[in-house]
Amino acid sequence: MQKNITITYDVFDRLEDLSPEDRKLLDAATQAAKNAYAPYSKFHVGAAVLVENGNIVVGNNQENLAYPSGLCAERVAGFSASALHPNQKIMAIAVTAFSENFLTDTPIPPCGACRQSLIEYEIRDNQPMRCILRGSTGQIFVFKSIADLLPLQGKFLA
Ligand code: THU
Repeated sequence: MQKNITITYDVFDRLEDLSPEDRKLLDAATQAAKNAYAPYSKFHVGAAVLVENGNIVVGNNQENLAYPSGLCAERVAGFSASALHPNQKIMAIAVTAFSENFLTDTPIPPCGACRQSLIEYEIRDNQPMRCILRGSTGQIFVFKSIADLLPLQGKFLA
């Protein structure tokens, strides 16, 4: 027997094509990327998390001379949102990045460890977390759930 996993996501060519809510969240992530601490990789990632009551919590990558001690933007934002709003479901996350060395014209998907950390909240909240991804320019990918990025782990697997 074989089974098949299919992932469906929306692709938008322009920021203007996004809903106002998604646009606002991606704008917040774009601002957050500017404040990343990325002196080693020169790769500046911004994330913005929307919680149920409408608050937006941002994060950005925080690097360290001892490399593994740093943290990705997605986890900084997700952990902060859970710390600041422990009783609020996490509804969505937007992520963007720019490099000092090359053009990021494709969406920046979260790393495996971030997917694992984020799906924890999706399961905790029984709430799919919308995921809006973009480089510094180019297309925008919108996933309905972190489970779409981490098949077999989440309970939202269709
Ligand atoms: N980084 C993130 O913050 N999020 C991602 O999705 C990819 C990678 C950070 C980690 C490190 O500070 C830099 O980008 C280069 O990998």
